[in-house]
Amino acid sequence: MTIRPILTVDSDMAVLKKVSAPVETVDDDLRVLMDDMLETMYDAPGIGLAAIQIGVPKRVIVMDLARAEEPKAPRFFVNPEILWASDEMFVYEEGCLSVPEIYDEVERPAHVRIRYLDYNGQQVEEEAEGLFAVCIQHELDHLNGVLFIDHLSRLKRDRAISKVRKAAREAA
Ligand code: NI
Repeated sequence: MTIRPILTVDSDMAVLKKVSAPVETVDDDLRVLMDDMLETMYDAPGIGLAAIQIGVPKRVIVMDLARAEEPKAPRFFVNPEILWASDEMFVYEEGCLSVPEIYDEVERPAHVRIRYLDYNGQQVEEEAEGLFAVCIQHELDHLNGVLFIDHLSRLKRDRAISKVRKAAREAA
């Protein structure tokens, strides 16, 4: 498994805004990508990662919502879709590996029903709530070129991007 560089909004905004393409078959090449994504996410560390965040415009997400003291629980989502979303909303303070060190509250549907292909290409349908619902919607946004800061006011969004730029300049 290979840890790949994670793209960030200061230098890679054009790539992060791309709409990712559906995957045709879940094969060994795709599983290599998913394994690399998982390794990259654990190394960061983060709880979710979309393929576009390592520059691959495919509809693939990896996630692990296990707490630090719990055993690892990796999950893989290929071509995920939201089939239904609740009217009830939920507010959560989100962050993103592509927008480092920025956290802000985003409101999203509290429950969603999703359909996707798993690591072996099997179709799965399930309900998500709580952190799982937040995370799958955040990652699904990435596949459509949407970042969590796009859900904030224009002022907050611009401020977030300049903070990331400034931090990147200072680190260089
Ligand atoms: Ni993100």
